[in-house]
This record gives sequence, structure tokens and C-alpha cells, in this order.
Amino acid sequence: MAEIVLGIYTAHGPQLNTTPDEWELRLPADRKRRHWFKGKQYDFDELIELRRDENLGAESAIEAMQVRYDACQEAVGSLAETWREVSPDVCVIFGNDQRECFHEDITPMFTVFGGETLDHGPLNEEQEQRLPPGILQSEWAYRPHDTVTYPGLPELAKRVMEEGHRSRFDLSWSLHWPHNPDAWHHGTPHSFTWIFRRVMENKVVPTLPLICNTFFPPNQPTATRCYEFGQMVARAIADWDSDLRVAVCGSGGMSHFVINTEIDQLFFKAIAERDPEPLCALPQDLLMDGTSELRNWISAAGCLFGTELSGDALTYQPCYRSEAGTGTAQGMIAWT
Ligand SMILES: [Fe+2]
Repeated sequence: MAEIVLGIYTAHGPQLNTTPDEWELRLPADRKRRHWFKGKQYDFDELIELRRDENLGAESAIEAMQVRYDACQEAVGSLAETWREVSPDVCVIFGNDQRECFHEDITPMFTVFGGETLDHGPLNEEQEQRLPPGILQSEWAYRPHDTVTYPGLPELAKRVMEEGHRSRFDLSWSLHWPHNPDAWHHGTPHSFTWIFRRVMENKVVPTLPLICNTFFPPNQPTATRCYEFGQMVARAIADWDSDLRVAVCGSGGMSHFVINTEIDQLFFKAIAERDPEPLCALPQDLLMDGTSELRNWISAAGCLFGTELSGDALTYQPCYRSEAGTGTAQGMIAWT
């Protein structure tokens, strides 16, 4: 029986990989779009008005951002160190696709990647030019300089499909990443490659990517369904006749592109108490925009709550970049 020996819940966003002055490159985009916050949508100026009493001007001053940045780098270092110490044989990642592989022609709810290998490579010049400011600068944390091939985990992927059938999940199946030549991306989505590059430090073990459509309505799974998905994957791992030591990661979040510390703290509390109820009770309209990626934490919780593993949060840093509260809350938990 395969054993889960490490559990990781982690943010993976660009602000982890860029300096505070580069965070500010995102401000023009922040000002342009409408943002989900606590179940409603607002524009930038409405958010400033709404959050006037939260002192976010001081929180997003360059000195404050630098303190948050330094703490994040230390926590990423701790996460990588934990990975090295535990040294799992294989990895299962609950991640998502952000229009990197799947586009408007088809957006599956849950996809199991069953390929022998996962390709990944640098962008060409034209694709790089399509990246918005503040994102381009973070690419080093998601992409290699040369095309690489990472090992997949097809044996476990097939077991997840079988357990999915038994558990009444209708899953999508992929043997190689969908490739759209007009897209800004090709290869493995960032929610997986951030783990490869910054947690595994490029010593990538065979990995099973489980892709959830966290972002794009109308077929985002409910919180409860994400939890059940994680439980189903735990059964597939437990039934796997193998002596391999497995890491399980939930990759994404925390609240963004507008920070909501309430929802982030709800996650820390529920995970510390191994309590699925507050997670499963989260309504769809609280899991929108980047915050939607917390669905991957819920699936990881479904997979990990039944294990003996435990551990503390490595950090929580609400990395504000404006007085409107835009930015990304960075959080990490490691269970050993
Ligand atoms: Fe993301």
C-alpha cells in the first residue's frame, strides 16, 4: 500500500517570484478590471472606498511590501527544505489551469493527466510579449530555459480513474497537454510547475497532475465536490499496491486578486482542526478569481485529513500592493 508521507498546501502566484517594485507593475491591470470580493464585484475605486478603514495604504507601502516579500522567501525556502528532508518518491498535485491548456472551446471540470511524461518549455518571443507586466518578470519560477520532459505517474492516474468510476465521478482524461498555437502558453500549467521549480527545486519526481477548473464559470466544482474529489484520490492512493512514498499538494490561492483575510483564516483554522464543514460550506461566489484556486486546498484537505500527518503554517503574508486591497495573500502549510 502506497503511503502519503507529506502534505503541502501552498500559494504559487507571481508575487512570490517578483520583488515589491515589480508587484507594482500589476497596478494598471488592477485599476482596469472588476474584482470579486466577498461575493460581489467592484471596480478599483469602489474597493478603495469600501476598505477605507483598513489602513491598506500603509500595508501597501514599499517598506511593508518588502517585509512581506522577505517572509515569503523564507517560507518558500522552508517548504523546499521540508521536501528535501522527507524526499517523497512521487507526487500528486491538485492544481488548476488558467487558460493555459483549456480554452473556451472546452473547459473540463476535473481532468486526470495520465501521460508517461509532462512536457514543458520556454515561451517564444511572441508569447512573451503577450504576457502582462508583472507576470513576465515572474516566469523564471514557472518555466525552464530549455524544453524539458518531466515524469508522469500513469499507473496511479489509471487507479484514480477506476476509483472515480466506483465513486460516481465523471472525469476527463488527458495523455498530453492540449496545445493551442495561438495561446500565450504551452506545456504544463503554472500551478504544477511552481511546485517543480520552487519546492522540488527542479529535481522533479514522477507526478500526477489533477486539474480542476477552479476559475471559469459556469462549471467550477462546488467546494463539497472538491473535498469529495480529494477523498476519492486518497482511496486510490491507499489501494495502490506499491511501496512508494507519496507527497500530496494543493497548489493555489490564497485570496486574490483582492485580499480577503477572513477567508484565508477560515482555511487555516479548518485545516488545523481537520474540519471539512467550513470548507465545504463555502459558496461558489466566494471562490472566484484567484481565490477560486483555494478549491485545490479543499481537494488536498479531502485527501490529507484521513492521514496521520500534521504540521503548522509556515507563513501567512497578505501581500497587498494597493490601497484597494489588490494583491495576493500567500500562505503555506506543510504536514509531515
Ligand atoms: Fe495561479
